[in-house]
Amino acid sequence: MIATRTYDLIAGDRFLELDGFHPEFSTTVKLEGLNPAGSIKIKAAREMIERAEEQGLITQGRHLIESTSGNLGVALASICAAKGYPITLVTDPNANARTVRFIRALGARVVTVTNRDSAGGYLRSRIAYIHGRLAADHDLIWLNQYANPANAAAHSRHTVTEILDGFGVPDWLFIGTGTSGTLMGCVRRLRELGLPTRVVAVDAVGSVTFGDVPGPRWIPGIGASRVPEIFHDDASFQKVLVDEVDTIRMCRRIAGRHGLLLGGSSGSALAAVHALRDRIPSGARVLALSPDMGEGYLDTVYSDEWVAERFGRGALDAPAETAAVDHLLPL
Ligand SMILES: Cc1ncc(COP(=O)(O)O)c(C=O)c1O
Repeated sequence: MIATRTYDLIAGDRFLELDGFHPEFSTTVKLEGLNPAGSIKIKAAREMIERAEEQGLITQGRHLIESTSGNLGVALASICAAKGYPITLVTDPNANARTVRFIRALGARVVTVTNRDSAGGYLRSRIAYIHGRLAADHDLIWLNQYANPANAAAHSRHTVTEILDGFGVPDWLFIGTGTSGTLMGCVRRLRELGLPTRVVAVDAVGSVTFGDVPGPRWIPGIGASRVPEIFHDDASFQKVLVDEVDTIRMCRRIAGRHGLLLGGSSGSALAAVHALRDRIPSGARVLALSPDMGEGYLDTVYSDEWVAERFGRGALDAPAETAAVDHLLPL
């Protein structure tokens, strides 16, 4: 394939079945980290920019702004560089340092908000900063991935199509939840098509999206300290909360056994598969979305010092066994 735009090189057809992940059912990951800009977020970024263009919002002299834990920022920075749009990305100390360098190298401006919000995270602080900037500068356009319907539409249009074309209809589909764009878009399209796929939404303990008690979290990607506007629980999917220690153990287990270095939220999705293993019927085809790869997590999830400092040395030893399961619909 020869493309003329970087963001059209989406690798929607990369699936890896994890041999022996469970003896009774097959577990496959959809590797979104092989996309341009390194993550699933290229699809949401492209859709949001193209919808804003269609609405005539992006005109000469206007400047884009967005809140991002990293991957959306890289995707937006890449697209904006190609299109010549100026953009500022507002991020926080949990973002991978390498990701921030990546964004800067693509020519975008980065602002890091350092004050934790009342829920223990940074999302509300990032949004408050953006509101302040919007009030002072009327030429700014906020894409607002947490409320922008184009975020979910990207996955209805593309991610579900890629899954059906490249994998077929999954019996179970595990999806990490950050803005919930991936989850909402996939659920909507699967239900429109009348497909029986059992969708499992995966979030981190300490995230408030599923109504849980807020708490500090360290791994970027999934989790939110305020419920995203686009999140709507229509009771057609299950919800699982995973402890970050289990995310880390799962990432390391996959690296050691399969030679595949996955990002944090991919470990969370697979930890959720592991947690639900006794409920998944024998012979089922399970698919877990893997939003990014693990190079950006070498100094965190894959660093013994980093893990021991935050979770204790015990987090390095035990196998991934104890993902917290919560808010499950009856099966
Ligand atoms: C690594 C990673 N995993 C999962 C997600 C969650 O995706 P969504 O925002 O569509 O819920 C993100 C979003 O930024 C991410 O960067």
